[in-house]
Amino acid sequence: MSILRVEDYQPIARDRLTPEVWDFVEGGSGAERTLAANRQAFEDMTLRPRVLVDVSDPDPGTALFGTPLATPVGVAPTAYHRLMHPDGELATARGAGAAGALYVVSVFASQPLEEIAKAATGPLWLQLYWLRRRDALVALVERAEAADFRALVLTVDAPRIGRRLRDARNGFAIDPDVRAVNLDAALTATSHERSEGSSALDRHAAEEFDPTITWADLAWLRARTRLPIVLKGILTAEDAQLALDHGVDAVVVSNHGGRQLDQAPASLHALGEVVAGLGGRMPVLVDGGVRTGTDVFCALALGASAVLLGRPVLWGLAADGADGVAGALDLVTAELVHTMTLTGRPRLSDIDGTAVAR
Ligand code: FNR
Repeated sequence: MSILRVEDYQPIARDRLTPEVWDFVEGGSGAERTLAANRQAFEDMTLRPRVLVDVSDPDPGTALFGTPLATPVGVAPTAYHRLMHPDGELATARGAGAAGALYVVSVFASQPLEEIAKAATGPLWLQLYWLRRRDALVALVERAEAADFRALVLTVDAPRIGRRLRDARNGFAIDPDVRAVNLDAALTATSHERSEGSSALDRHAAEEFDPTITWADLAWLRARTRLPIVLKGILTAEDAQLALDHGVDAVVVSNHGGRQLDQAPASLHALGEVVAGLGGRMPVLVDGGVRTGTDVFCALALGASAVLLGRPVLWGLAADGADGVAGALDLVTAELVHTMTLTGRPRLSDIDGTAVAR
């Protein structure tokens, strides 16, 4: 079958994965309202095309923290890529590199950071959860710096894991052959222990994530790295302002793909208030429900500097390894370029609030 939209990877991926891994990928938390809202917010947008503009050479190129990127479409951090494909994160790194895209590697990657870095031909950022074991956190930061990762992304919307009912019903646990190899085995044991009616990931996070941390703790991390610090999971102007006050370098507007607080706002809706609050003082990325180049265009028009794709990259990875990852990213970028052409906005800097309407 020809792949003409990222959703074309979805049935192929579904066929390759067990039903419980599929539920882990696709599911949200609670009644999955935020999961649905993320998509609806994009569906509600319309574009305001301008005509008689020279669109002979549209350019989706951009840069973040001084690193040039062929596209503003990057890979969101998602855990355990070896559940999707035997080549796991190495395939993701190759695919992202081929597409000229940023790849944010999850702290729960199933291959070593150093090997992912070797496979990569594009920039990598490392995503972290704040673990109770600060020594483990420091070790990860040091390894990321040594392996030339370009930024740290601290996910702040998960002091505990959201109530993911599909995983609880499935008694989901991570296959013991697939491990979060960048963490000490003692730290990850619970995520492999099955128990009927509950998710091992929920039990694992309750054990290992530190729910006591506050804004004041960011100084501890800041003192331990020279890398830019990005906060992922910001949904309000108040928290965006606090991020600025605490010396954070960028934020990702995200509700974790509808997997954390259900009834949280759609990412695209939260983007507006975060961008307005920050007034251009730091880059704002966004993720959640982005499936087409038109969605990317809308996010950029509302002030995002870049967008990240979560599930679509996993569909591509499961369906076709590195080629599927590159395929998903290239497709969305090609759609973005097409939209830039037909709206008369050939540069990313031409995509402003006048380009869209709700
Ligand atoms: C995630 N996400 C995530 N986020 C994070 O900070 N660390 C992680 O390890 C993971 N793991 C993870 C696994 C899976 C299977 C999914 C689907 C998601 C959230 C992710 O980074 C991103 O916020 C959302 O996936 C974006 O929404 P879409 O593009 O999936 O709709």
